[in-house]
Amino acid sequence: MIEIVLPTTETIARAAALIRDGALVAFPTETVYGLGGDATSDRAVARIFDAKGRPQFNPLIAHVLDPAGARAHVVWNDTAERLAQRFWPGPLTLVLPRRPDGTVSLLCSAGLDTLAVRAPSHPVAQALLRAADRPIAAPSANRSGTISPTQARHVARSLDQGVALVLDGGPCVVGVESTVVDLTMPQPTLLRPGGATREAIEAVIGPLALGPAIGAPGALHAPGQLESHYAPSLPVRLGATSVEPGDGLLAFGSDVPGGAVMTLNLSPAGDLAEAAANLFAMLRALDRPGIGRIAVMPIPEHGLGLAINDRLRRAAAPRSDG
Ligand code: TXA
Ligand code: MG
Repeated sequence: MIEIVLPTTETIARAAALIRDGALVAFPTETVYGLGGDATSDRAVARIFDAKGRPQFNPLIAHVLDPAGARAHVVWNDTAERLAQRFWPGPLTLVLPRRPDGTVSLLCSAGLDTLAVRAPSHPVAQALLRAADRPIAAPSANRSGTISPTQARHVARSLDQGVALVLDGGPCVVGVESTVVDLTMPQPTLLRPGGATREAIEAVIGPLALGPAIGAPGALHAPGQLESHYAPSLPVRLGATSVEPGDGLLAFGSDVPGGAVMTLNLSPAGDLAEAAANLFAMLRALDRPGIGRIAVMPIPEHGLGLAINDRLRRAAAPRSDG
């Protein structure tokens, strides 16, 4: 059994000591729970890949406290500065060239010459970064290919070994992972829609190019853009406006068809932030015996709806591993 503790000065100090020692600690961020290890240690980063069953070619995000913490490891630029000013700390990850004198493990970049950096806003994540006094590599704290954890108990259910401790900071308020923007190309490129909306980012730096995974399911092969992901064990049907026998319904808005085996509503008021916060926990709750298929009502494709629909398309994608 994985040990779950409430975050206190004491448990955070213990978690930081574990991280400095090369062990792994799961901790809350505003987006999802992360599985953290010392980003400067090859051994710790290798352990993360191991614990998640994650393919070695899929790079990790290095979490830092602030832009200064990022600048020590990546080649910073004006676009990064403007985005960090507006969105950090918060749910935005920036991909930048690695600095030759940076100390983050090459494994964290999975062989690329770029590194993803993010400063989380969750106070427990910040306290852990401060106490560990080094960048923390952290993917979502779930087995590779499964739904990301938004509560501490999800972590304990998804990962069975290799995790020394889980800091329980309650449910994550954003609920979908950070937005990933690649700043190493001539035009800033959206690699993964997430908690910082495309519209808000474009208001700061102008139009984003869209990465291969976005808007074109079926044609994606950049790192980390595996199609089947966030997958519940049941099949998922998107854009459902009516219910079929055996359906569990993931509803959105006030106009909900009846007749489902079980219905959970992402947001009766049609609020996308509320829907994002509920998304993963409700997908998990519907993934249960007695339900044949998860039917999902249409979600508007703007604001946080981009991230929600991206995760839902991956949940509905054909499974590569059966
Ligand atoms: O909200 C989040 O981002 C959470 C919390 C824990 O911070 N973390 C998270 O990590 O979602 P992960 O590993 O599940 O997703 C990181 C994404 C992957 O799609 C990965 O391929 C991409 O970021 N990524 C990381 N480094 C990259 C790089 N150097 N170039 C391109 N993509 C990169
Ligand atoms: Mg993940």
